[in-house]
Amino acid sequence: MQKGDLLYEGKAKSAYLTDNPNELVLTFRDDASAFDGVKKAKLAGKGAINNRFNTFIMEKLEQAGIETHLIKPLNETESLVKRLDMIKVECVVRNVSAGSLSKRLGIDEGLPLNPPVFEFFLKDDALHDPMINDAHILTFGWATSEEIAVMKHKTFAVNAVLNPLFAEAGMWLVDYKLEFGRYDGRIVLGDEFTPDGCRIWDAKTKEKLDKDRFRRDLGDVIESYHIAAQRLGLE
Ligand code: TMP
Ligand code: ASP
Repeated sequence: MQKGDLLYEGKAKSAYLTDNPNELVLTFRDDASAFDGVKKAKLAGKGAINNRFNTFIMEKLEQAGIETHLIKPLNETESLVKRLDMIKVECVVRNVSAGSLSKRLGIDEGLPLNPPVFEFFLKDDALHDPMINDAHILTFGWATSEEIAVMKHKTFAVNAVLNPLFAEAGMWLVDYKLEFGRYDGRIVLGDEFTPDGCRIWDAKTKEKLDKDRFRRDLGDVIESYHIAAQRLGLE
């Protein structure tokens, strides 16, 4: 496999072409971003822990029969992935109230949500990722109704795998964001699953072990990512 030109640079990851048109090299950088790029920093070691974390989670999902873009990790900060035609919506599941849901609806943080809440957001930094619904996705052609149904189904299937995994490790998977793409006629999980794109709380103390530590200036960001990783048994 030959790593080629830079295809795109996101806020925390970059994607490079390879000599195979169906595969990309995904590089997890040390860049941290919050509030749609408004707050930025370099956090040493973030690329490496996120690449490991993502590999661990995506392998768990594959074992449970949920197809992901991950082919294999290549080195500390890079993974080989399938090249998806990304759908520009973000799928969020919330098991516990927090973040924008608490703000929008005036709900205290930390309340278990039964059943879990599903939300779509438009992936658009300039618009600050507005919340959207199925009608917007259909009308503006971002995905078909079949694709919407598959994304919802797969996002909940991920919950069925990861919720117990985190619970058994003494943590709450409060919420998370997934992105999907099209590959060979199928809807496949892309992007990443790391503490950058989810909320993880210690089940007892409710201590935050995710990017809210960066968003809210709580300190020990990367240390907390490592604590979550260790508890899941991946270090
Ligand atoms: P929110 O409470 O800010 O809406 O976020 C819900 C979850 O989704 C949280 O774990 C963070 C994640 N998320 C992202 O990683 N990127 C995004 O652009 C959005 C909207 C949410
Ligand atoms: N992921 C977005 C950003 O990097 C939003 C956030 O995490 O606050 O800016």
